[in-house]
Amino acid sequence: MKAIELKKGIYWVGAIDWDLKNFHGYLTRRGSTYNAYLIVDEKITLIDTVKAPFFEEMLARISSVINPNQIDYIVSNHVEFDHSGALPFLKPLTPKAKILTSFNGEKGLKAHFDTTGWDFEIMKLGSQLKTGKYTFSFVPVPMVHWPDSMMCFLEEEGILFSNDAFGQHLATSQRFDDELPLSDIMVEAEKYYANIVLPFDMPVKKALEEAGKLNNVTMIATSHGIIWRKNIAKILEKYQQWANHETQDKALILYDSMWESTKTIALALGSQLEKKGIPYHLMSLGQNHISDVMAEVINAKYIMVGSSTVNNQMLPTVASFLTYLKGLKPKKRIGLAFGSYGWSGESIAHIEEFLKGTNMEMLPSVSLTYVPKKEELKKLVEKALESL
Ligand code: FEO
Repeated sequence: MKAIELKKGIYWVGAIDWDLKNFHGYLTRRGSTYNAYLIVDEKITLIDTVKAPFFEEMLARISSVINPNQIDYIVSNHVEFDHSGALPFLKPLTPKAKILTSFNGEKGLKAHFDTTGWDFEIMKLGSQLKTGKYTFSFVPVPMVHWPDSMMCFLEEEGILFSNDAFGQHLATSQRFDDELPLSDIMVEAEKYYANIVLPFDMPVKKALEEAGKLNNVTMIATSHGIIWRKNIAKILEKYQQWANHETQDKALILYDSMWESTKTIALALGSQLEKKGIPYHLMSLGQNHISDVMAEVINAKYIMVGSSTVNNQMLPTVASFLTYLKGLKPKKRIGLAFGSYGWSGESIAHIEEFLKGTNMEMLPSVSLTYVPKKEELKKLVEKALESL
């Protein structure tokens, strides 16, 4: 395990988590990386660490360049364990290293670890660090992703160490965006945004505003996945679109069904959308992971959710998804509730309530008893979608 030199004296010393499949509930089929960076100047700086089980991998990469006891500064851009978990193991090996972090970063690190004897310095917006020929400037970006989150910028080389922002859960031995197909990277960047960053639209806009003030950004060195050097403008543009909740004229039809009747309504909605020339994507909530569903929500204008009624409730798969959706706070969407039921039919009203709770405007709901009759279903679906 060796460091990978990104530019002269600037190294990636992170770890690759090939086996990660669950990142706090998000299905990470393609694993992830925890990116840490070592900058060798008159003073030596380490930016972030890795998840605790990967400490030895990071240490081996650092040790391929320097003795860790030479590190003068450790920048902690984010307290979450995937970036700070190895810090308590590294700190005893770096006796002179000062921890540079945000105000909330210091509080967070002290709340996570025994920091006795650690020397902290708080970095604020505009704080600078000279390490010899290099100057780092610091940009706290609270809530991208936690209150402590911070980015830092290596001015002379134009490298923005962006931490969680612009990342992707993508395990790869390649380090740069021009070494993999861009479409593969963008799919993962979009899924990552939809499942992690979506609720934080205002903080993201603020972070983009601050990033826009930086001169000559040549690399965005994220804390997960690949480093952007060729497609910087594209990922910044995407973040602007996602933070503005821009969608396509596309419908997402989501359902779970006991005896296929709710599925029949889902298919009828799809058929009517097709007649109207509106693209749609249909997903069973019983068969698809909620994090994959969110990757479709991110660009869909219409969110149509259906469930059978069981024991006066919606099906648990639908309830689980709606709870997840509510927390991720998509905006500027139009909702529709649908379902088939036997005698009480509460699921449709419950779904409608949930979708309204995420500030969606609602189309008329579609509800039918038992097995939908073709003509009745057609009429109801036409009525529900007539305004589109
Ligand atoms: Fe990659 Fe918020 O941690």
